[in-house]
Amino acid sequence: MKHNFYDSYGKIELRPIEANDIESLRLLRNKHRNCFIYSDIITSEAQQNWFTNYLSKPDDYVFSVFLRDKWIGSVSIYNIEKNQAEFGRLLIDSDTGEKGLGVSVTICVCKLAFSKMNVSRIVLQVYEDNISAYKTYIRAGFKIFGHSFDVNGKKLLDMELFSSDLSE
Ligand SMILES: CC(C)(COP(=O)(O)OP(=O)(O)OC[C@H]1O[C@@H](n2cnc3c(N)ncnc32)[C@H](O)[C@@H]1OP(=O)(O)O)[C@@H](O)C(=O)NCCC(=O)NCCS
Repeated sequence: MKHNFYDSYGKIELRPIEANDIESLRLLRNKHRNCFIYSDIITSEAQQNWFTNYLSKPDDYVFSVFLRDKWIGSVSIYNIEKNQAEFGRLLIDSDTGEKGLGVSVTICVCKLAFSKMNVSRIVLQVYEDNISAYKTYIRAGFKIFGHSFDVNGKKLLDMELFSSDLSE
């Protein structure tokens, strides 16, 4: 949805995603597509359709991540229901020259969800072999509560975060 949430944490800043950001997001997403359950290559046309559809969704908040006013990635909070939300679409460009920005992004968006979106539990799924994402989530305070397998039999960890466990 077209939202109006802005926030910052450490060196990073979150802003609502805009039409100007979606091509950078598409290129970064395609580069890391194997980190995601939906791993097809995304065309420019598909990305435009996704963005148009996204703007009309009532409970999907996509953020662009900026470092010193430069677009470096994305993160989302979505499917908010009964005080629970899903976290996803975390992507950070590795060419920034900085390490650990993913933790700041994760903490920032979860803090925002807990304080402004009436959310008390946040869940996510991450491939077990995605070490950088897994480490990022553990550092932010997420804990494993289960697991599942994708259609190819690859293991996914289910992780959850409560506001009292959020690292700061
Ligand atoms: C996940 C992501 C946002 C993290 O970005 P980041 O904050 O820049 O991450 P870093 O490169 O600092 O890596 C985080 C940690 O994992 C470690 N790490 C990365 N790959 C590793 C490996 N193969 N083995 C062991 N440790 C590894 C890093 O060393 C770092 O730990 P450290 O701080 O103790 O050194 C980024 O890697 C990304 O965009 N990945 C592709 C998309 C993705 O996987 N999204 C999540 C989907 S669930």
